[in-house]
Amino acid sequence: MTAPGPAPDALRRHAVHALLTARERTRGLTECVDERELTTQHSPLMSPLVWDLAHIGNQEELWLLRAVGGQQALRPEIDDLYDAFEHPRAERPSLPLLPPAEARAYVTDVRDRALDVLDAAPDDGGPLLAGGFAFGMVAQHEQQHDETMLITHQLRRGPAVLSAPDPPPAAPDTATLPAEVLVDGGPFTMGTSTEPWALDNERPAHHRFVPAFFIDTLPVSNGAYLRFVEDGGYGDPRWWDPVGWEQVRRHGLAAPLFWRCEGGSWIRRRFGVTEPVPPDEPVLHVSWYEAAAYAAWAGRRLPTEAEWEKAARHDPSSGRSRRYPWGDADPTPDRANLGQRHLRPAPVGAYPRGDSPLGVRQLIGDVWEWTSSDFLPYPGFRAFPYREYSEVFFGRRYKVLRGGSFGVDPVACRGTFRNWDLPVRRQIFSGFRTARDAEPV
Ligand code: AVJ
Ligand code: FE
Repeated sequence: MTAPGPAPDALRRHAVHALLTARERTRGLTECVDERELTTQHSPLMSPLVWDLAHIGNQEELWLLRAVGGQQALRPEIDDLYDAFEHPRAERPSLPLLPPAEARAYVTDVRDRALDVLDAAPDDGGPLLAGGFAFGMVAQHEQQHDETMLITHQLRRGPAVLSAPDPPPAAPDTATLPAEVLVDGGPFTMGTSTEPWALDNERPAHHRFVPAFFIDTLPVSNGAYLRFVEDGGYGDPRWWDPVGWEQVRRHGLAAPLFWRCEGGSWIRRRFGVTEPVPPDEPVLHVSWYEAAAYAAWAGRRLPTEAEWEKAARHDPSSGRSRRYPWGDADPTPDRANLGQRHLRPAPVGAYPRGDSPLGVRQLIGDVWEWTSSDFLPYPGFRAFPYREYSEVFFGRRYKVLRGGSFGVDPVACRGTFRNWDLPVRRQIFSGFRTARDAEPV
């Protein structure tokens, strides 16, 4: 790392905190359902929760106990079961997985040993340990699977088991906000070479020229999306990519996932609760095709990934790229809806303290935002520490999402963070905002 980082003991405390926070959340997501619910598959798109649980421990064992600590495998026979590339999700329930009690004992054992490794880790332990990277990577990995398990909870049938007592903050009056913001043409710094826990696909920092564009101040709301629905958007091939149109036809899609029209009003199911679709919330559970179709219907388009990041990070007064839209400080509850603190996005227009320098709002948290871009490596990319995190996914199959949802923890979310998924996916916590070219003057 370039800049002198925090002192080793501050770094250790930070790493311990990240690991403990992740584990508390994992417990919350896996202790609120019984053994049967942990081991069954709630959707063919998802693993049984007990697979995620032991996979979290297995990755921690691989990276912290074996790679960093130089230890032998605790249970070499289970590695194959929890290798995401050996077994597709649909196949996982039929594997001889560790039963819940054994999975819990395994992750606890791994964690105890990992904390010992952390205590003993040298301050100059090479690239895997620089800035505490391996520990940050493992904490992020657990948090990513926690978001995955939260998606499983959303897909699960039956009464609610999760709760978030405090509602997200209301939006201040948004009537005076401009609908869109102009971002001038010019170069900016995309990606990072200095963020210690940034993953390989966020690196390295590089210059990108981005022509002038307009971007929505706020994410697209349910109310706005409903106008597309009620204008017959799902029945008009003009708005759709041919592959998306095919999906609409084959599956009879007519609205975002989890929506239903009953007696002329739209309702949705959210973590086991059925409720009216709130018009002022960002639209959630739309595929890339649905997002792009809405944008086309509105006479607009999705932002490119570079546009999204420039709107989120570029500070025109200094020419610098910030870590987050509001500056370099870590996220706080008054700036972004993260970490499953609320089980829903906040209304559009909330979190004015999270605004970017140009006044673009809610870029971080609430909903993952689809971009028009394929998931590709940055110039100078190097796979680190393993090809299967990012490199094997690069190409035209996957689209990039940015900004993080209410279900992602701050440790796994920043201005440079890149998520990706297949453009048909809609069980994820995905929404979007739109953009358009600015006419050159
Ligand atoms: C970055 C969310 C696409 O869940 O497939 C978890 C994260 N990688 N284990 C995924 C991940 C390995 C990944 N995403
Ligand atoms: Fe994983």
